[in-house]
Amino acid sequence: MTIAQTAITYRPAQASDEAAIKALIRAVNINPIGLKWPRFLVAVDENGRLIGCGQIKPHRDGSRELASIAVQKAWRRQGIAKEIIERLLADEAPPVWLTCMNKLVPFYEQFGFVEMLGGDGCSLPRYFRLATLFFKPIQKLSRIPGYLAVMVR
Ligand SMILES: CC(C)(COP(=O)(O)OP(=O)(O)OC[C@H]1O[C@@H](n2cnc3c(N)ncnc32)[C@H](O)[C@@H]1OP(=O)(O)O)[C@@H](O)C(=O)NCCC(=O)NCCS
Repeated sequence: MTIAQTAITYRPAQASDEAAIKALIRAVNINPIGLKWPRFLVAVDENGRLIGCGQIKPHRDGSRELASIAVQKAWRRQGIAKEIIERLLADEAPPVWLTCMNKLVPFYEQFGFVEMLGGDGCSLPRYFRLATLFFKPIQKLSRIPGYLAVMVR
């Protein structure tokens, strides 16, 4: 634990966190769909300001996704995402899925996630099969470098 961590509180989100969660997700430019606040765990500073968040998102195909992991720029590299992820995963039996840009694969490997590579496409839950399909044309148009990785734990 760093010194800064002592001033951080991790707790389930409240309705009053909703706007700040949405603003953070918008600011870091990750998937803005499915941001229901009751599913979130948040990290707040000593003044109650949101500094990080994450959720376990259930999908219609029965799969669960570690999603919306984000930390304010000024608070990064202090173990805040790690704490949020470990707390979220503590109550979740495998399999838990996620999608991330390929450069973040090593980040998620430290929590036991492994990447599902090309040929494994048919064994993905429907949501993740469709997510990778839909992402390809968006990525081409917006020229985002890399690819969308699917990982499971
Ligand atoms: C990715 C992100 C959530 C990491 O948050 P963070 O609080 O800085 O991460 P942590 O400090 O908990 O990092 C934990 C460990 O992962 C490592 N790490 C952090 N960011 C990393 C990255 N981008 N790539 C590889 N490793 C990384 C850290 O070095 C740390 O390792 P250590 O404990 O050995 O020092 C943050 O950079 C962010 O909000 N990015 C923008 C949103 C985003 O891309 N979210 C992921 C969506 S899939």
